[in-house]
Amino acid sequence: MKVTIVGAGAVGASCAEYVAIKDFASEVVLLDIKEGFAEGKAMDLMQTATLNGFDTKITGTTGDYSKTADSDVAVITSGIPRKPGMTREELIGINAGIVKEVATNLIKHSPDVILIVVSNPMDTMTYLVHKTTNLPKNRIIGMGGALDSARFKFRLSEALECPPSDVDGMVIGGHSDTGMVPLTRLATRNSVPVTAFISEDRLNQVSEDTKVGGATLTKLLGTSAWYAPGAAVSALVQAIACDQKKMFPCSAMLEGEYGLNDICIGVPAILGKDGLEKIVELELSDAESAKMKESAEGVKKTNTLLDV
Ligand code: LAC
Repeated sequence: MKVTIVGAGAVGASCAEYVAIKDFASEVVLLDIKEGFAEGKAMDLMQTATLNGFDTKITGTTGDYSKTADSDVAVITSGIPRKPGMTREELIGINAGIVKEVATNLIKHSPDVILIVVSNPMDTMTYLVHKTTNLPKNRIIGMGGALDSARFKFRLSEALECPPSDVDGMVIGGHSDTGMVPLTRLATRNSVPVTAFISEDRLNQVSEDTKVGGATLTKLLGTSAWYAPGAAVSALVQAIACDQKKMFPCSAMLEGEYGLNDICIGVPAILGKDGLEKIVELELSDAESAKMKESAEGVKKTNTLLDV
């Protein structure tokens, strides 16, 4: 299993580290345009191999896509990250050109690759990759919901004053401050609805904190977060590499599911060796459907800024 990660910044390097530590890939190639940067990150990570006990071979390259040849999975993190006060949507002008070029180069050298898009605005970048590459829809996956759900579960565990591993929950919709739809109705602590433990008001606060999860971190860190994004991507890569058939909310190209068409937005999906193998259609409440519709309108509005 060969994994390429384009962009050796904080998210890309974290993803490489988590993939290596989980030790399921034989090879990880980090690619960046900044001279020597990916090579440096790869060397630094390789020097953790004996400490962290992995055999994954990590190499770096400055823009040489021939080194990524025959990758099974490739992750696109390239582009500029958010600065405090910026929305993900404001990055579109710069990131669209970069993401388009990266996707084209990856496919040239790995015609069977499965692409995971992380660059923001993620749902729109995923849509752009679909439109520019015309790959089958199972081979292009946007990473957002897995991260937003992890943040949701963490916030729930804080509110419930319980270990995060006790909590289950999911966020669907667009990966934006206003577009996320945390499914509070379905969130549980060991199968018990979370409403048995916290008030409706507290649960609404958890939702609001989840939706601005990325923005809160950007303000604290001065740039976009990387540990949870990197871990979330590595979980998707592992589900594909190990044919796990695990369910994650992912940005998928919809053709009628959830009443939506010609849009990439977060919905639950089964990930396995063929990438996004199946979209899971949940029975949403009227309120959830209305939120999903509003979220889709936001994503579509951002998509109109693309030149596709
Ligand atoms: C975040 C970025 C990765 O939510 O979108 O932290």
